[in-house]
Amino acid sequence: MKSGIHIKLNIFIFLLLVFGKISGQTITIPIETKDNALVLQTDKENRLWIVYFGNKLVNASDYLGTSQQYHFPEGNSGIYNNAYTPAGTWNLSEPALQVTHADGNPSTELKYMSFQKKNEAENITITIIKLVDPVYKLNVDLYYKTWNNENVIEQWTEITNNEKSDVVLNKYASANLFFSNKNFYLTSFQGEYLKEMQPSEEKLGQGIKSNESKLGTRAMLLGTPNFILSFDGPAKENTGHVILGQLAWSGNYKLDFEITSNKTLRFIAGINPYESAYTLSAGRTFKTPSLIYTVSNNGTGQASRQLQSWARKYRVLNGEGERLTLLNNWEATYFDFDEPKLSALFKNAKSLGVDMFLLDDGWFGNKYPRNNDDAGLGDWQENVKKLPHGIGYLVKEAKTAGVKFGIWIEPEMVNPKSELYEKHLDWVIRQPERPEKYYRNQLVLDLSNPEVQDFVFGIVDDLFTKNPELAFIKWDCNAVIYNAYSEYLNKNKIPQTHLYVDYVKGLYSVLQRIRAKYPTVSMMLCSGGGGRADYELLKYFTEFWPSDDTEPIERIFLQWNYSYFFPSITTDCHVTDWGKQPVKFRVDVASMGKLGFDIVANKLSKDDLNFCQDAIKNYDSFKDIVWHGTQYRLASPYENPVASIAYVAEDKSKAIMFTYLHSTRFMENATERPIQLNGLDAAKKYKIKEINLYPGTVSSINSNQVYSGDFLMKVGINPDVNGKRTSVVLEINELK
Ligand code: GLA
Repeated sequence: MKSGIHIKLNIFIFLLLVFGKISGQTITIPIETKDNALVLQTDKENRLWIVYFGNKLVNASDYLGTSQQYHFPEGNSGIYNNAYTPAGTWNLSEPALQVTHADGNPSTELKYMSFQKKNEAENITITIIKLVDPVYKLNVDLYYKTWNNENVIEQWTEITNNEKSDVVLNKYASANLFFSNKNFYLTSFQGEYLKEMQPSEEKLGQGIKSNESKLGTRAMLLGTPNFILSFDGPAKENTGHVILGQLAWSGNYKLDFEITSNKTLRFIAGINPYESAYTLSAGRTFKTPSLIYTVSNNGTGQASRQLQSWARKYRVLNGEGERLTLLNNWEATYFDFDEPKLSALFKNAKSLGVDMFLLDDGWFGNKYPRNNDDAGLGDWQENVKKLPHGIGYLVKEAKTAGVKFGIWIEPEMVNPKSELYEKHLDWVIRQPERPEKYYRNQLVLDLSNPEVQDFVFGIVDDLFTKNPELAFIKWDCNAVIYNAYSEYLNKNKIPQTHLYVDYVKGLYSVLQRIRAKYPTVSMMLCSGGGGRADYELLKYFTEFWPSDDTEPIERIFLQWNYSYFFPSITTDCHVTDWGKQPVKFRVDVASMGKLGFDIVANKLSKDDLNFCQDAIKNYDSFKDIVWHGTQYRLASPYENPVASIAYVAEDKSKAIMFTYLHSTRFMENATERPIQLNGLDAAKKYKIKEINLYPGTVSSINSNQVYSGDFLMKVGINPDVNGKRTSVVLEINELK
């Protein structure tokens, strides 16, 4: 009944708009979420403009008049607030679309045709706006998908070539936005290997600030397609108007933030046009990746909670489901293991109390055994010396020990010292006439080639066919694309500029096949450092590896930064031997995400082992809140010697609060002030208990005291972190 009304209403709106266009009427299209509105409007010539981005108005009809309130002088360089800026006519500012038409003409103009709004499901609306070039038969459809409660918008563009022959898309952005505030602060997250996700905030000045990758894969060696835009001064956690988002694309990206001569901001995001000119044959449609963002009037805290909640409910594979705690052997053995060693590790995993053992790199390759990282990659057969009885035997042995079994692969890559390279040189991305250049002694396979896609799918399919009880895959990707050149594209007379784009599309298509056949098994995205923590890949993966840097103080910062964009259920955090912090500190930090271990468990002291065993039991008791609850960043490590984060259960009956002393300057006293909680029920009464206590230590927190939620949120609680208590985990329980 309800949907019937919607359909009629949609048809009515649609007809009204087509009629409006014929009679030269202004068409106003609001794209609304719970708190925000993006409003587009046509002019007399049927061009489409962004006329408003801000707080939602009570009456949608009021949006009609917003454009009249702005009197920006027309810029010399043309169109500033176009909804999708074409190039080659009178626009001289950064375009969203640049096309060479079938006849070689480089000009494009876009006029409004019609729009449609559909309610896809409760909370989800999709708006499609059709634009067309009045001279050339090029159609551009702008998509705006909104999740009302989460204030999330996903934008992408579909470009259809209805001309007689090929057109070339030189630039084809996903989204083109326009903001008319006065001051803009941009936080980008850049980095290096082991230094992923480092934030840097700047006030934008006139001109273009670009954030881009040309690395092909593994962008996080350099940067990320994530951003925070703040309008009321530098971004704050609990106040201010911010937009926080990501371009969901796993290859080369470009985010351009352009302050115009009017001090307005144009934001254009999409696939990096660098070496990406795309030939689109007649009758074909190109779908761009999505720009995904959320809007908040209450700072980055609310923005992150909206995005995290959206990701769990609507985006990440099994985002509301369960995950497996694990013991990984990478740092315990590196490449040096055999069956008896692994069997002993299965027992260690069981005695620790984790769910699974994860076998890392080094299990494959015979002609070129994978005994270090310079050989064997690509030859996915068990190494008969190390594993004479094969993976199947290990899965059974692990089961006998009482844990599940997972395995590492890096299926998109190849070592030149491998049988795969010898047999299929044409599958390797390399310039045939030039010396090869390696990253970590390896090269990248050409996923634009359907045969390579079959090969990569086959690696996973073979593992699961032979070992149906395999519980987990760690999918690594350690090299960037040097010497970008595809023998497959060459043979098929497809321009080489398709490689970067078709590589990523090829990867997605392999993953679609894997998920069609194996829809639920947990898979971790790994890329040395994060590099691939993006919302397109997370449709197929349950989690990601944030960094090889597992030093726990660095991890506090890293996890803090990832949490702006990703829910903790997706963030794999392993306890390792990196750094000088005690095991309690390391376990507490890793317990803020999906917990794992990568240590030599049988070398732990008795107390350390007891502590870990108890901490894993505690984690099992509160992981539901860390994974599915609401996260509040309480004290920033960037502003304080302490860092504090809490996770609150949906019904507010329970919370877990983690606090760390990460800086031990004499002048700074971490116990001076309490830390205010957030997200509790002011009217409820709570008791607070310290957990994860190291054997032999006594808590300084009075577990009998009763606090109101009001008190805890306004006055706060002092976790009493100090030089002797550098890491404190508090369980906050409603008194019923
Ligand atoms: C990458 C990963 C590590 C490990 C190694 C194996 O560096 O990030 O966790 O899997 O590869 O070679």
